[in-house]
Amino acid sequence: MLANKRILLIISGGIAAFKCPDLIRRLRERGALVTPVLTRAAEEFVTPLTISAVAGEKVHGALFDLTAEAEMGHIQLSRSADLLLVVPATADLMAKMAQGRADDLASTLLLATDTPVMIAPAMNVRMWLHPATQRNIATLKADGIDMIGPDEGDMACGEFGPGRMVEPLDIVAAVEAHFRGGPLKGRRVLVTSGPTHEPIDPVRYIANRSSGAQGTAIARALVALGAEVVFITGPADVAPPAGVQVVRVETAIQMLEAVQAALPADAAIFAAAVADWRVASASGSKIKKDGGKLPVLEFAENPDILAQVSQMPDGRPGLVIGFAAETDDVLAHATAKRARKGCDWIIANDVSPTTGIMGGAENAVTLITAGGAEDWPRMGKDQVAARLAARVAEALTEI
Ligand code: C5P
Repeated sequence: MLANKRILLIISGGIAAFKCPDLIRRLRERGALVTPVLTRAAEEFVTPLTISAVAGEKVHGALFDLTAEAEMGHIQLSRSADLLLVVPATADLMAKMAQGRADDLASTLLLATDTPVMIAPAMNVRMWLHPATQRNIATLKADGIDMIGPDEGDMACGEFGPGRMVEPLDIVAAVEAHFRGGPLKGRRVLVTSGPTHEPIDPVRYIANRSSGAQGTAIARALVALGAEVVFITGPADVAPPAGVQVVRVETAIQMLEAVQAALPADAAIFAAAVADWRVASASGSKIKKDGGKLPVLEFAENPDILAQVSQMPDGRPGLVIGFAAETDDVLAHATAKRARKGCDWIIANDVSPTTGIMGGAENAVTLITAGGAEDWPRMGKDQVAARLAARVAEALTEI
């Protein structure tokens, strides 16, 4: 997949640098030729000897290396690559890149290049959320630099939140997608997936039987066509696919906030089985048995994420797709739902227990568009996803 692709891997000084030997191995397994560059700070986290051994190449470090200048030169080094990959990209290196500074080999290469650049940021959550970093990210994106992640999760510093570097295999998937190109290259697609959990009290919740399998398959199929995918998932049984930006949520309200934060997007696919109701005043402490007295739960309606996005006055994605899981009168209910919510397409399916679709590997869907209804034969959820991704690609070329 990456056969003979020349990747200039710039490793900057963050703890996530310890994942670079694994990343290099994965890239080389796929045929890539990896030339490593370490910043001075990176050498504190991973040794040049280790990196050179796994890369099978000399490590470049100093800007004023006279031998290297005589043999190749730092300009040549950046130009001879097919891709510049920065892993991890620290807040400091991103700031330098945004300003166009060139005070060491890594930043000089990044400034001197006319080759595509992808960066996998990794930093403490506060550093990531700091307005200065956010400004730099906006600048780098406007400069055409591709961001891989970061993820949200546990950090080496003991905190939790966005800023965690995506795993090496996900970086490899993003690099593969970059070289593959595909009809959705340069398109940003948002996918919701899985169930939501609505708390009753700190230990109990209301949920549904969605496994997240169809939403995950759709996200994977979109990545395969080159899309940049933001994958907003409730607590699903199925792990998120490689190569997407994962945002994990629990409740419908959190999912709505995550969707709003992820916009703008070219297309949005709402495959999540969002709970229609939440417990109006979830208890802050565990509800106790009370001498045979039964608890009474009052419900409040959750926001309809699909309807809200479909009816956005400004910044609505060009293509909004919803799902309609029904147990009876599938076509009539789904057609009415498309009109009521204001989305462009509805994927309708029959989730009666006898169909085995909910939680199963197959799906039989009907695609409902402005042009009418189209029955797709029963097929694997991966095939439904591939077919849908291809249709999305086709539709986006017309938007
Ligand atoms: O109304 P119903 O739940 O059947 O609609 C299903 C579609 O609406 C799905 O695409 C689902 O992701 C979306 N939805 C939503 N927010 C809700 C309820 C449903 O986005 N609160």
